[in-house]
Amino acid sequence: MKRMFLAVGAVVLGISAGIAADDPIHARQELMKANGQAAKNVVAILKGQAPFKLATVQAALKTFIDTADKAPALFPPGSDKGKTHALPAIWTDKSDFEAHFAKLGADSKAALAKITDEASFKADFPPIFKDCGSCHQKYRAKEQ
Ligand code: HEC
Repeated sequence: MKRMFLAVGAVVLGISAGIAADDPIHARQELMKANGQAAKNVVAILKGQAPFKLATVQAALKTFIDTADKAPALFPPGSDKGKTHALPAIWTDKSDFEAHFAKLGADSKAALAKITDEASFKADFPPIFKDCGSCHQKYRAKEQ
């Protein structure tokens, strides 16, 4: 009996470990959702709806850096099919698409180094949203 439970456990673990590789669409959407949440937290500060917290700002930038690092590998050929808003241009213009991620990573790293207080946050954070928007405009389908 005990042995059977162990075997079942191994199968379950094996499946969950394979999720990112087997389901790149889901994995990249989860990363992007984290970006969306991080952006929301920051926008609330910019709008004066939440108090400035350096830790919140830094966490958002680290989320963006993590995405820039991991997301390019989550657009393998063929993953334009399925429940995705990714546009075909990603695969015909791959190097430009990946350059957008590289820019997001580089800009977020620079902002992480520069932002130390509320004034530098207000000056140096908003331009990062252009990196999100310029990629979405070209490579992401609008919500249906
Ligand atoms: C290099 C291109 C690129 C950059 C840069 C980028 N995104 Fe995205 N984003 C995408 C693509 C492509 C999708 C659609 C993915 C899919 O559906 O497979 C997406 C989807 C999303 C979604 C919807 C996720 C879901 O499925 O619910 C959110 C939210 C999002 N991005 C936020 C952001 C934010 C915030 C930034 C900036 C910090 C950002 N993105 C930067 C390409 C990018």
